[in-house]
Amino acid sequence: MTSLTPKPADREAAKATPIVDALQRPLHDLRISLLDQCNFRCPYCMPEAQYHADYEFLRRQQRLTYEEILRVASVAVGLGVSKIRLTGGEPLLDKNLPALIEGIVQLPGLDDLALTTNGMLLAPVAASLAAAGLHRVTVSLDSLDETVFARMSGGRGSLSRVLAGIDAAAEAGLTPIKINVVVQRGVNDHTVIELLEHFRGSGHIVRLIEFMDVGNRNGWKMEQVVPSRDLLEQVKRHWPLRRIDENYPGEVARRYEYIDGQGEIGFISSVTAPFCGNCSRARLSADGVLYTCLFATHGTDLRESLRNNADEEELTDILSRIWLQRADRYSELRSPARAEAHMQRKVEMYRIGG
Ligand SMILES: C[S@@+](CC[C@H](N)C(=O)[O-])C[C@H]1O[C@@H](n2cnc3c(N)ncnc32)[C@H](O)[C@@H]1O
Ligand code: SF4
Repeated sequence: MTSLTPKPADREAAKATPIVDALQRPLHDLRISLLDQCNFRCPYCMPEAQYHADYEFLRRQQRLTYEEILRVASVAVGLGVSKIRLTGGEPLLDKNLPALIEGIVQLPGLDDLALTTNGMLLAPVAASLAAAGLHRVTVSLDSLDETVFARMSGGRGSLSRVLAGIDAAAEAGLTPIKINVVVQRGVNDHTVIELLEHFRGSGHIVRLIEFMDVGNRNGWKMEQVVPSRDLLEQVKRHWPLRRIDENYPGEVARRYEYIDGQGEIGFISSVTAPFCGNCSRARLSADGVLYTCLFATHGTDLRESLRNNADEEELTDILSRIWLQRADRYSELRSPARAEAHMQRKVEMYRIGG
């Protein structure tokens, strides 16, 4: 923690009581996607055939500026948000990130500032992110098998650089580090145990995520989902596990620990055991659209209001109206017919950052 971060007592005192939506879910987290571009082409997120050299990503002037992001973040914190995650696309393609982190971490009432990255560009910047006030990182890493890793990063990643990024983040104190693994049947499920073995005892928390039907472009099929309960059984055959309590209501991962004391592991079962009932997350895209569901088909454009100089009161009014009316719970209502009808219209994951 740096001197930029307000003292715990000050933060507690400044915390707003979260507003709740139509289903009584509090607004707790804000995920901010900084840009829609990425240096990987993970087939489950940005398949190369769709996101080719001629694909038109957002131009700079279409993306929110830091000043605009900070205005939204500040209003969100005033409505009860205490956790902010910076994501993308790949957030580390943004070279000025420390400046934004310094601004966000000073918001009174915020007690957790995290960043999700594919880790490729992390090693050289980990220390400066920590110095700017970032609390921790989550690194996405689907396999330690070179061939599988290459396939799952769309041939763009370097496994050794990602591992160096994780080490540098640990060195810089960006902990606890979480390692996100999207598990796809027939693609990387046979390498999960090796990956867990590698990180056992490191203090990093591996989280096994069910391949989700986010967006419309990843060719999602239920057959490719490995249900968490199957993975859990598989892991238990190697190492006994015990369930542990959630850190806070609405936590997405089901937490387990190795009985032999070698650390924690999480299961994110967004397909087979949806957690909409506790979902407390709002998501801001790089071009300023606020979404209240990962599977949303539409959001609310805040950029226009920001650029028309809406003041804090007006922005508070807009955000609170969005949250108060929120009643979405796509994952809980998911059915094959519904998923198909929904298929063509959902927002893409790389636009809102997971
Ligand atoms: C969209 S990425 C953005 C941040 C950064 N580029 C990264 O990969 O960590 C955020 C998270 O979404 C996950 N993700 C993307 N597509 C997914 C899918 N179809 N199912 C499950 N998780 C997915 C990624 O694995 C990653 O952990
Ligand atoms: S999951 Fe992350 S790293 Fe992979 S393509 Fe999507 S945004 Fe890029």
